[in-house]
Amino acid sequence: MGICWSPNSKAVNPAFSVPSSGSNSKTRSKDVSRLSRGSSYVSSASFSLTHRSEGEILQLANVKSFTFTELKCATRNFRPDSVLGEGGFGSVFKGWIDEQTLAPAKAGSGMVIAVKRLNPEGFQGHREWLAEVNYLGQLHHPNLVKLIGYCLEDDHRLLAYEFLQRGSLENHLFRRGSCFQPLSWKLRMKIALGAARGLAFLHGAEISVIYRDFKTSNILLDSNYNAKLSDFGLAKNGPTGDKSHVSTRVMGTYGYAAPEYLATGHLTARSDVYSFGVVLLEMLSGRRALDKNLPSGEHNLVEWSKPYLASKRKIFRILDSKLEGQYSLAGAQKTASLALQCLSAEARLRPTMDAVVSVLEQVQSTKDSERKNQAEKTLHTQSFGRGAQVPQRKSMEGGSLKGYPRPLDSIAA
Ligand SMILES: Nc1ncnc2c1ncn2[C@@H]1O[C@H](COP(=O)(O)OP(=O)(O)O)[C@@H](O)[C@H]1O
Ligand SMILES: [Mg+2]
Repeated sequence: MGICWSPNSKAVNPAFSVPSSGSNSKTRSKDVSRLSRGSSYVSSASFSLTHRSEGEILQLANVKSFTFTELKCATRNFRPDSVLGEGGFGSVFKGWIDEQTLAPAKAGSGMVIAVKRLNPEGFQGHREWLAEVNYLGQLHHPNLVKLIGYCLEDDHRLLAYEFLQRGSLENHLFRRGSCFQPLSWKLRMKIALGAARGLAFLHGAEISVIYRDFKTSNILLDSNYNAKLSDFGLAKNGPTGDKSHVSTRVMGTYGYAAPEYLATGHLTARSDVYSFGVVLLEMLSGRRALDKNLPSGEHNLVEWSKPYLASKRKIFRILDSKLEGQYSLAGAQKTASLALQCLSAEARLRPTMDAVVSVLEQVQSTKDSERKNQAEKTLHTQSFGRGAQVPQRKSMEGGSLKGYPRPLDSIAA
């Protein structure tokens, strides 16, 4: 996650960007000491972070306050071999606690948790931590990760979440290895629907919440591939009253952020819809939003794929060869057309997340979504050539990480 709470800014300052690792994106934002204090947050009655003090936020969040020693114990002193992932905030470690008392437990017993620990040398800090406590402490939905507790002690800032067994969608889409078999069409559609429901829930909250950093590394998967949004460090209250947008510094991740948000800092729920379109496209194509390892002209997934998405006959050219034609023509076309709508340059032409959910529900419920017969599969592979659909690229493992989506940093005022 990354965050910046000061007023409007107009240009992206790339100075803080950090490329993602093969498995997890690293994100950096401004040094916390430079962040203005001001925004904050949510309860069932009122979600306003702006008017809540830190004490109120912590009190409203119905979660455990851990001591540093407890979380140190639960993670066996933050063992490096139990790192689950890493982002701009810091590393995430696997740990164990007693299900009833929430006291640290022996490895392998009790309940598994994921503990995110602030990297004091990073560029994030208290504000991002507080935003997560604020939102996840009060918002509950099957498609949002559960926050179990936090630690606020001296300079330590930690968050303890339910452990999501299958890790991030990013790993499943882009990492190779025995743990990461290509996701089937059916699973991709299930994940897309789950993540869409999570966003729809946020946008439909009493005071809508804009997630602002929707990307594959922030979508976690449980053992049944149910998608859960995590990482609320950038989340922000949506506009209220007559306001059409909230003005912010541009924060998020290159490749996912909506063009009008990048250009103006004006944030609306439709900015999340754009990012959803990018992720849907990544799921359809098996390509990263930004990938400089691909031939020039194909670096930017949205730019490259738009002409194909717009043509019902050509969309198969962008579909992931690893799907091996598991989809039906109708299901693939409907999903590609949905992605295209989400990616509309004009924000008002993008669907709401509720509308996205209903289209994805239709795609899932129609038997048509999956390939019906071998003849259809043969048609796809003959027409477009399985291997030819996606150009060869360098292996991600151990390879250069340059060129993949990176965080937007701050934007100069
Ligand atoms: N609850 C969890 N269960 C399993 N893995 C997790 C969990 N939370 C985070 N991770 C892993 O850690 C990575 C970074 O977590 P994230 O919350 O996005 O951190 P940051 O705020 O630093 O970006 C994720 O992409 C995922 O791989
Ligand atoms: Mg993250």
